Amino acid sequence: MRKLETKEIILATHNEGKLREMRQLMEPFGFKITSAGERRLPEPAEEGTTFEENAYTKAWAAAKTTNMVALSDDSGLSVDALGGAPGVYTADWAEKEDGSGRDFQMAMQKVETALAEKGAVDPAQRKGAFNAVLCLCWPDGHAEYFKGVAPGTLVWPPRGGDGFGYDPVFLPDGHERTFGEMTADEKHSWTMGQATEPLSHRARAFAKLATVLLH
Ligand code: IMP
Repeated sequence: MRKLETKEIILATHNEGKLREMRQLMEPFGFKITSAGERRLPEPAEEGTTFEENAYTKAWAAAKTTNMVALSDDSGLSVDALGGAPGVYTADWAEKEDGSGRDFQMAMQKVETALAEKGAVDPAQRKGAFNAVLCLCWPDGHAEYFKGVAPGTLVWPPRGGDGFGYDPVFLPDGHERTFGEMTADEKHSWTMGQATEPLSHRARAFAKLATVLLH
């Protein structure tokens, strides 16, 4: 695995919620961070069929334009009863029909409607996971990937106004509050190399990335 030999990194995202979390998770490492959104870099189209492909598309676009090491996150919610949907299309399910942006209330409702159509009412029929693939990409195109998965159950109605995206309908395994009812610190449970596993998919992927950042 290639080592990281710079303390300056560009976060290849235009998503405010992700950026906030990625900054929090990068904080302990003392990096100088800017983001693709802040630099007004164009947002590449995500046409891949895997989290890895889309993560590479975003990280490579930022790395080649800035000549810096870039870090991207491609993530999504996979619901077992829906054959893994929305999966890589999680953000697309929130696109408003008139093209005026994203509406996550609507997106959560779409997931709920799809589950109701399957007759999935018991928690056991409503299992799923949040997935995050981080891609660290160098200006020569070399990439390393780090994946984190957080298993849980889809709840209805949505609970909690913290977090972003689908957080209010996701109850992580072993917990009684949704991601939307947790503070950012609780959601990540970022432990920086301690024995307990982080909670969120993004923090779990970061824990793997930390082995590259720290050594
Ligand atoms: P993409 O990675 O840009 O394709 O977007 C992934 C989408 O998944 C985001 O727009 C969010 O809606 C959703 N998502 C990813 N991670 C989280 C999370 O931690 N909480 C809630 N929603 C998330």
